[in-house]
Amino acid sequence: VSISDDNSRVTANLPTGQQLQVLLYGATVISWKSANGKENLFLSSKAHLDGSKPVRGGIPLVFPVFGPPSSDHPTGRLPQHGFARNSRWEYLGKSSSESSTLPNSKGDASVKLDFGLSNSMLSDSKWDYEFNLTYSVTLSQDSLETSLAVRNTGTSNYEFQVLFHTYLAVDSITETTVSGLEKAAFKDKVQGGKEVEPAGKPISIGSETDRIYTAAPEQAIKILEKGKDRYELTRDMLSDVVVWNPWLEKAKGMADFGPEDGHKKMVCVEAGSVSAWNTLDAGDTWEGGQRIKAL
Ligand code: BG6
Repeated sequence: VSISDDNSRVTANLPTGQQLQVLLYGATVISWKSANGKENLFLSSKAHLDGSKPVRGGIPLVFPVFGPPSSDHPTGRLPQHGFARNSRWEYLGKSSSESSTLPNSKGDASVKLDFGLSNSMLSDSKWDYEFNLTYSVTLSQDSLETSLAVRNTGTSNYEFQVLFHTYLAVDSITETTVSGLEKAAFKDKVQGGKEVEPAGKPISIGSETDRIYTAAPEQAIKILEKGKDRYELTRDMLSDVVVWNPWLEKAKGMADFGPEDGHKKMVCVEAGSVSAWNTLDAGDTWEGGQRIKAL
């Protein structure tokens, strides 16, 4: 396993060819390549990677609030999706497993990179609580895992939401379907937050889509291309799933979204805990994560 850290980005390569790139800004995973060189994450051609704006693409981390905060909540002064995605994190180091002395073992290698963010690292916190976040990103042969531990290092409890805003790369959105959410009700943001009954069939995307599937069943979510499995998402402690595609008009309205038909090349399937608040008592730690398999 080889790792390089140039003080703004950490890159990890497995001996079998898989590659992972994580920006310290937001601890944003911006690239995850399979052994055959195929990129699994969509990154906008106009994404800002210099720390001036949250990254449009990859896996921005949403914490401690999802969406625009409401002014009557303690997260009320924070920007949309919170501060984790636009704060500079610290690279804490790696742990890797490889048994390179055995002839056929290089196929087992994996690497875990850890990143940290605590309230003392924020210059201008608009959230009055003490926390220590540890974000771990694990690259294995055919999967990427992201997990977050939130420790309340203060003296009072607080509420938070969390979400991995994963932009999955697809060849063609019109030939992509999402299965595994057939039995989940959803809140449709395109219809002003209307509560919609479970659809009973896989999701196809042919227009702007912005849905929060609440209490999504624990089963794996599959993203298929032309009916063939492409990604499989499993979740731990993350009961909600957001499915988002801005489609053409909304994408045009985002200065950092490109190329112009980029919406055809992505679907956000975002595992999170966002439909309610998680309460974390002083001294306690919450942990949750996701695993995405590239098939
Ligand atoms: C999704 C939300 O998770 O993120 C959408 O459901 C939102 O409503 C999208 O538009 C992108 O948000 P942002 O802040 O990165 O432009």
